Amino acid sequence: MTSSRFAGRAALVTGAARGIGGATARRLAQDGAHVLLVDVLPEVAETAAEIGQPSLVLDLAEAGAGEKAVAAALAAFGRLDILVNNAGISGSRPLLDCDDALLDRIIGTNLMAVLRMTRAAIPHITRPGGRIVSVASVFGIAGYPGSTPYAAAKAGVAQMTRQLAADLAPEGVAVNAVAPGLIETAMTKERLHGDAYYQAAMLHPTPMRRAGQPEEVAAVIAFLASADASYVSGEVIAVDGGWLTGRHPPRV
Ligand code: NAI
Repeated sequence: MTSSRFAGRAALVTGAARGIGGATARRLAQDGAHVLLVDVLPEVAETAAEIGQPSLVLDLAEAGAGEKAVAAALAAFGRLDILVNNAGISGSRPLLDCDDALLDRIIGTNLMAVLRMTRAAIPHITRPGGRIVSVASVFGIAGYPGSTPYAAAKAGVAQMTRQLAADLAPEGVAVNAVAPGLIETAMTKERLHGDAYYQAAMLHPTPMRRAGQPEEVAAVIAFLASADASYVSGEVIAVDGGWLTGRHPPRV
């Protein structure tokens, strides 16, 4: 189904080659937005071509990447209304297994690159009416074994959201985040189907008893990016089938 709720609006979605970012770009475009799809994977060009939108291959962890992405969006659309900070890498490694280079990679991609991307976008985002939506994680909210650096980065994204919302609300820019639980993407597929501990700790205690699909996260991101969320700012909304609040094994 298509709609025109984003007609005339321009969005930049990071990590848009596939998964949650791909579904978000598709959803925003379906609902009438112009979307620049940014990803380090060259496949982003195919995803973008499928929905008739432009793309940019870019490693967001590199210095100056945020400015490049924003410049490309402004060159393509002449405006920037919506930034979706979705790009991220899995970091299911305990702290003790991370050397400095790996710590830098996990924090650099999942937090530093988000701060830099956002910093580059702020001066240009439409006022009033601009929207910044970031993808955090339930691991940035609840304790879970073996993912400390990733969780610290995602908690940083959540708190960036709350603080920045306070800074930008007076200017009419809303800042929110989603915190996905178990979503079936390239990032989780192997663990979802092959890791007994992950199944026991993530899948079975999810009250909805299933993994979520990228489109189910994209729908909430689109809501937060839309005028329907006109009085929502500084929120981190879990999209997790109830995992955060209702973790429990199936009834016997
Ligand atoms: P995915 O691996 O399918 O998608 C992530 C995308 O980000 C990929 O296309 C990847 O190439 C891109 N990316 C990674 N590093 C990049 C960089 N330096 N520069 C540009 N692009 C880069 O995974 P998924 O699941 O769609 O993840 C999307 C977001 O959702 C991530 O931030 C992830 O941490 C978060 N998340 C995912 C959950 C899940 O269960 N799948 C749960 C909670 C959060």
